[in-house]
Amino acid sequence: MKFLISAGPTKERIDPVRFISNHSSGKMGYALASAALKMGHEVILVSGPVNIIPPKEANTINIESAAEMADAMKSNFNDADITISCAAVADYRPVITHQSKMKKGDENLVLELERTEDILARLGKMKVENQLLVGFAAETNDLIANAKGKLERKNLDWIVANKIGEAGTGFAADQNEVTLISKNGKMIKLPLEDKSTLAEKIISQILT
Ligand code: C5P
Repeated sequence: MKFLISAGPTKERIDPVRFISNHSSGKMGYALASAALKMGHEVILVSGPVNIIPPKEANTINIESAAEMADAMKSNFNDADITISCAAVADYRPVITHQSKMKKGDENLVLELERTEDILARLGKMKVENQLLVGFAAETNDLIANAKGKLERKNLDWIVANKIGEAGTGFAADQNEVTLISKNGKMIKLPLEDKSTLAEKIISQILT
């Protein structure tokens, strides 16, 4: 099978030295890529800027911004049997990217931000029969209800609901605790586990 997996954060430039980003480490997405490869599948890994090394058998496409991630995901989507969007894509980017370093002044500064494209929602519209689309939902509150809402809105087959804001799981941690929810109403809680073990379980489950 051909997997298309996104991982890591995006970086939205304010000026040549400043940017908006988030705490995603890329570990979960990279673990999914490694697990799929280990099971004998092909992987295109679209990665935001992270400090970990991609599995060498993956075809890795490095991107920086949400717009670049959108291009890479959309142009590889039709060929993919299974697409997993694990990246923490910025929802907003600066309207203006300054070409030279912004100077500070004494006044407050207001940055105007505009929405980025919701890549996963777009892929949900492009999806055809026999393609599987999997998203992640990282939530601090109302995890299951919010995850189910995203599953429906984005036309997903599975969503991996991931509670964040607790020490030891989620962003940057080596372990994670997730609940898998399918469009058919299946709900599978996977206990706290290393991201690599979890990745294998997630992939085995979505392939059943
Ligand atoms: O941001 P949100 O909580 O809606 O993210 C849920 C899912 O949507 C994740 O799988 C994430 O990778 C994806 N997403 C995306 N493009 C965005 C925002 C989120 O693909 N602009």
